[in-house]
Amino acid sequence: MTEMKAICCTKYGGPEVLEMSRINKPVPNEDEVVVKIHTTAVTASDCAIRGLNVPGGHEFPIKQFMRLGMRLFLGFTKPRNPVLGLVFSGVVEATGENIQSFKKGDEVVGFTGNSRGAYAEYKCVSNKEIEAGEMILKPKNVSHNEAASLVYGGVLATHFMKTSNIEIGESVLIYGASGAIGTIALQLAKHYGAYVTAVCSAKNFDLVASLGADKMLDYTKEDESNKLERYDFILDAVGENKTSKLKLACKKSLTTNGKYVSVDDGLLKIYPDYLPTLKHLIETDGIRAVIDKVYSLENMVEAHTYVEKGHKKGNVLIEVV
Ligand SMILES: NC(=O)c1ccc[n+]([C@@H]2O[C@H](COP(=O)([O-])OP(=O)(O)OC[C@H]3O[C@@H](n4cnc5c(N)ncnc54)[C@H](OP(=O)(O)O)[C@@H]3O)[C@@H](O)[C@H]2O)c1
Repeated sequence: MTEMKAICCTKYGGPEVLEMSRINKPVPNEDEVVVKIHTTAVTASDCAIRGLNVPGGHEFPIKQFMRLGMRLFLGFTKPRNPVLGLVFSGVVEATGENIQSFKKGDEVVGFTGNSRGAYAEYKCVSNKEIEAGEMILKPKNVSHNEAASLVYGGVLATHFMKTSNIEIGESVLIYGASGAIGTIALQLAKHYGAYVTAVCSAKNFDLVASLGADKMLDYTKEDESNKLERYDFILDAVGENKTSKLKLACKKSLTTNGKYVSVDDGLLKIYPDYLPTLKHLIETDGIRAVIDKVYSLENMVEAHTYVEKGHKKGNVLIEVV
């Protein structure tokens, strides 16, 4: 059996529980393709799984119940699939005989849903996962690194903005506009024709302005709430664990029919149109990737340590090859 390099999560805990390992290279069955992974990303979700961190700022006993739920779902003492990693960009190396939609050599990008396994040199993707919309051809105009950094934020922003019904000229506020989800949400809101206020710290003002923000507010400043206007749609793009005085004030700044959505409102479900729509926008509308740092597979512990601090700009990537 041929082996491959993979990062395994040996138990729940800090970044140091991630270990470089050699495991069997997956062999596709007749309903699978095997992808040679070029780039994966370290997402906030990967850190949450590795650390068994409950989203949403809950207290005892809800937090303990939710942690128990996570153990039942993910694995009791460690993740059942020890190879984490939700997103990937790479090349199809081989296909099973029942695979019609992809061929050897295709450049692909994917969001693995619950199977994970992208912190490795190779990953199998099943026909069922392909039909569920978890892998498509990579957008032609971006590199593997750019593609891998667009997927997580792209899918989450698409999911949590789909009921926003933003119309041209409406006022939108993206809270946490400098993160993986925020950088795409901001660009989507501009694509829909909104006037966009981006909330981030002042060090990220240039970044969000370059993505199209019309106005910037600094969540670290005490008196920034005075500058809030009325918004037709507000997206909390960083989740309940990240808050500020300004965030609390935002919730009272909606228009009469305005809507406030948090990325922690329910669990993400990937629909088959998410990735194709994102690909179309990347190829035709110039939706841009924001890459903060790039690490090698060997430096995964360092990458997790950085992401866990909660202040990355856009995305942190792992180049596997
Ligand atoms: N519902 C679901 O199924 C689901 C699934 C996955 C993820 N999620 C949610 O999505 C979140 C991950 O979002 P992400 O990947 O976009 O985050 P991220 O990239 O890790 O966020 C980093 C950004 O957050 C900003 N930030 C830090 N503290 C902040 C605060 N108090 N207020 C405003 N901005 C702040 C930082 O800017 P500064 O450096 O300027 O502080 C940084 O640019 C998860 O934590 C979870 O809550 C939900």
